[in-house]
Amino acid sequence: VSKHAVNEKGHLLIGGIDSTELAKTYGTPLFVYDLSLIRERARGFNNTFKEQNVQAQVAYASKAFSSVAMYQVMKQENLSLDVVSAGELFTAIKAGFPVERIHFHGNNKSKEELLLALEHKIGCIVVDNFYEIELLKTLTKEHGQKVNILLRVTPGVEAHTHDYITTGQQDSKFGFDLLNGQADKAFQEVYQHDYIHLLGLHCHIGSQIFDTIGFKVAAEKLIKKMIEWYNDYGFQCSVLNLGGGFGIKYTEEDSPLEPSVYVREMIIVVKDLVAETNFAMPEIWIEPGRSLVGDAGSSLYTIGSEKEVPDVRKYLAVDGGMSDNIRPALYGALYDAVIANKMDETNVEDYTIAGKCCESGDKLIEQISLPKAEPGDILAMFCTGAYGYSMASNYNRLVRPAVVFVENGKHQLAVRRETLEDIVHLDLPLTLEKE
Ligand code: LLP
Repeated sequence: VSKHAVNEKGHLLIGGIDSTELAKTYGTPLFVYDLSLIRERARGFNNTFKEQNVQAQVAYASKAFSSVAMYQVMKQENLSLDVVSAGELFTAIKAGFPVERIHFHGNNKSKEELLLALEHKIGCIVVDNFYEIELLKTLTKEHGQKVNILLRVTPGVEAHTHDYITTGQQDSKFGFDLLNGQADKAFQEVYQHDYIHLLGLHCHIGSQIFDTIGFKVAAEKLIKKMIEWYNDYGFQCSVLNLGGGFGIKYTEEDSPLEPSVYVREMIIVVKDLVAETNFAMPEIWIEPGRSLVGDAGSSLYTIGSEKEVPDVRKYLAVDGGMSDNIRPALYGALYDAVIANKMDETNVEDYTIAGKCCESGDKLIEQISLPKAEPGDILAMFCTGAYGYSMASNYNRLVRPAVVFVENGKHQLAVRRETLEDIVHLDLPLTLEKE
């Protein structure tokens, strides 16, 4: 029995809609987001904090997938927003996202980016380094404007995940080292400043994490530091931000916990440590990206050419590839897929799914069993909602796919497909004279 919803034609349904009809209507490659899943995840996080009676902000880490319409969904679900660039911030402003719930991240924010943030009076800047503190001191004073900040720290926690996406360990380009005095020095720089209002501490220990230990250790280290500052300086931090990183199930191999479990366990650690002191329970903020949108997104591709390497494998090529999903090539990330128009077929063959980019390494799935495929079949790859479109490129001058939202049998375009004109619209003709 298929674990996926299938209609009477044997076609895969997404959000109650025949996925092959979506492919026909919007073309392929196509990203399809089922909004009901995103809402379910968002409410799950918010309700967990409510049940535990903890003041909180759940900020969508929008690097996972950023677009005007997606920001509007997050606004409807009362989430906050984590942005990391002028581009994401501008998108949020275009989307009408409440500025007081926007948090600005980044290890090298430019002066222009900080000014944009100040101009729009966004909720909080997550300060990463001493250079940024200096910039903010100058800019806030020049503009006579106060700003809320968190200090980002690296707590020295090695989260068990892929090396490239581990950020909380000591050797990291992000944040102030919590263990060697950097964080204390940063605290001294800001806690009495006229224009800078320190809310508290932030850390992000990594991504696609399956257990709770890393989060608990990080929570403990940060809250202890906040209590230490309270005891030494009488300064009450009001916010503890523990970042994102909650893992999701890409394939049967993955065994993430329920998102609420991570949250509940962090809360227990913080509550227990705070209970022994006069320090007031801080708000707890989190920043999930992948766990909000990852499994809500699927990619639809049209299958084209096939090549057999005798005794080795059969390649099936699709009309997208590393240009719309770099994760397999970059991280060796694994995905599951089906042929959306052959959900009822039981005879399978082994295939390697190749992309259409001019690189041998452009393989989306190394090995998968699928019904015998023919040109024109629709391949649906699951769990591509996070870091798929957002890391897409125009490599080989491929146009970036369209993005469609579906919910309860309805659908809408959220990002239109690029056109060939889009491909050249930044290019200027040669004007230098030939010598
Ligand atoms: N907060 C901060 C400060 C982050 O750096 C990140 C992700 C998040 C929150 C959200 O993490 P999430 O809940 O999505 O795991 N491109 C990689 C992932 C890079 C994550 C970068 N930071 C991938 O495709 O797996």
